[in-house]
Amino acid sequence: MTTTLNGKKIVLGVCGGIAAYKSVELLRQIIKRDACVKVVMTANAAHFVGPVTFEALSRQAVYRDLFESKGDASIRHIDWAEEADAVIIAPATANIISKMAHGLADDALSTFLLAVTCPVIVCPSMNTNMYTSKQVQKNIDTLKNFGFQVVEPDAGELACGTTGPGRLPGPEVIVDVLEKLLTPKDFSGKNFLVTAGPTREAIDPVRFISNPSSGKMGYAVAKAAEMRGANVVLITGPTQLTPASRILVKKVVSAEQMCNAVLDYADHADIIIKCAAVSDYRPCVFENQKIKKTEDSVELKLQRTQDILKAVSERKNKQFVVGFAAETQDLDTYAIGKLQTKKLDLIVGNLIGEKDSGFESSTNKVVLFYKDGKRESLDVMPKQQLAHLLLDRIAENVKG
Ligand SMILES: Cc1cc2nc3c(=O)[nH]c(=O)nc-3n(C[C@H](O)[C@H](O)[C@H](O)COP(=O)(O)O)c2cc1C
Repeated sequence: MTTTLNGKKIVLGVCGGIAAYKSVELLRQIIKRDACVKVVMTANAAHFVGPVTFEALSRQAVYRDLFESKGDASIRHIDWAEEADAVIIAPATANIISKMAHGLADDALSTFLLAVTCPVIVCPSMNTNMYTSKQVQKNIDTLKNFGFQVVEPDAGELACGTTGPGRLPGPEVIVDVLEKLLTPKDFSGKNFLVTAGPTREAIDPVRFISNPSSGKMGYAVAKAAEMRGANVVLITGPTQLTPASRILVKKVVSAEQMCNAVLDYADHADIIIKCAAVSDYRPCVFENQKIKKTEDSVELKLQRTQDILKAVSERKNKQFVVGFAAETQDLDTYAIGKLQTKKLDLIVGNLIGEKDSGFESSTNKVVLFYKDGKRESLDVMPKQQLAHLLLDRIAENVKG
């Protein structure tokens, strides 16, 4: 499994809410992930966005009229319900929420929804007073009890001028929920420890030694593991990224702090994946005051930081340990050396300086080296996809 939505059949239900225009971008985001999306619109939704937009983007006829004949014997509300892997209602109006809660079937969307047996994601969006009304809240509770997945609306300034909950979350949030819903939970109950990002070794209060690691690879691995049912602890150096809300995040700055945090959690972990680019050296002395530029040159004496992978391997019992090796030359020699000396189960070798790969890039090109001597060279791919592929390989090796 590489991309969760690849080839999946998704039905997007669009209702007559002011946020209907946002479902156009949501449709694009799902299609981008190689899913096949069909759109059902209510009659009122068409007051807000024309069906032609959804038709052009989805390359499928939009379903709007329950009784419109296609000239064949198909019964669309049943056929579409049987085919779908997942359904998203975005925006879900107060009206459709009420109809779903009470089992009404008086148009194409509500009738289709009664026939659906796959997971349904409901994204309420409306004026704050409507959303917080007792009627709507009761209906939302009913939907949750029926097993529908309800995505809470964002709070903020709404199109109608009120401020409070009711805004449709961004497409990336809804796509995230969809991907998680359709991802097999093959790491359910497993404890993951993932490290990410760079560390910083302070020289004085305003300067430090670091590297350009963005943390993208480690965050992608943590997210993929969480989506696949794992309990994830992410120990991260300073990055600009936001981890998924269900991940336990420990923020650190220096290599020493990262080492302490890793050792705190390592014994409890089943799988340890060390993506962080940890500084190998730190200044021997930390100057309490900013160093002044009085001299033409200064000498900085460095000392080794603690070798975290080595410390982990010395305590290793049941854990499956994966390391990363970022190298500028002789990748095989260095990666295999590290695999053996640090007693790793798998090492991900990364040639720094290659196009579309390494630090800061959103894609990566790596070679996997296994402890049994196997070598697997992978194509360039997005880091999120690589994260899932890496987990696929870990799953095979943990079981095998
Ligand atoms: C300008 C305008 C904006 C509206 N926005 C919303 C909205 O954001 N959420 C909502 O639940 N209803 C909204 N409504 C009310 C719905 O359009 C109305 O309840 C309608 O019956 C919903 O039909 P549907 O659920 O079949 O699409 C809006 C109505 C108008 C005129």
